[in-house]
Amino acid sequence: MERTFLMVKPDGVQRNLVGEIVSRFEKKGYNLVGAKLMTVSKDLAETHYAEHKERPFFGELVDFITSGPVFAMVWEGEKVISTARTMMGATNPADAAPGTIRGDFAAQVAMNVIHGSDSPESAVREIGIFFKEEELNTYDKTI
Ligand code: CMP
Repeated sequence: MERTFLMVKPDGVQRNLVGEIVSRFEKKGYNLVGAKLMTVSKDLAETHYAEHKERPFFGELVDFITSGPVFAMVWEGEKVISTARTMMGATNPADAAPGTIRGDFAAQVAMNVIHGSDSPESAVREIGIFFKEEELNTYDKTI
């Protein structure tokens, strides 16, 4: 069973989109195994976005993700990493299809509402930097 890291960014939290976004993944059938509202430190932001360090927008990216609370989550399910990316839509909301989260709720690449791991390796890394093992739950769905 796969796990992925998803994060409602500060724009999504401030626009009260947490419930809508959680609801989409719940209705799809994935299991929420960890979640917390938190403010990302500069150190955590720089670690999380290390692969973008040389990009011209890196400073803006770090400033934005630390600008207000985010809602960090771990979701579990079959092929959840790639399917969550499909449900999120393209990184640039201008290219995101209607019906996707970014297609429906975002209009700018910098404020694109949600982040999701892009590979199994990223998922393991990102879950590990945002969550302690004891913050993650396991359960069998019986209903
Ligand atoms: P995310 O999936 O969180 O991963 C890296 C982020 O960089 C991406 O979503 C975008 O929000 C952001 N990003 C990409 N391109 C730009 C850009 N040109 N200016 C500002 N932010 C960007």
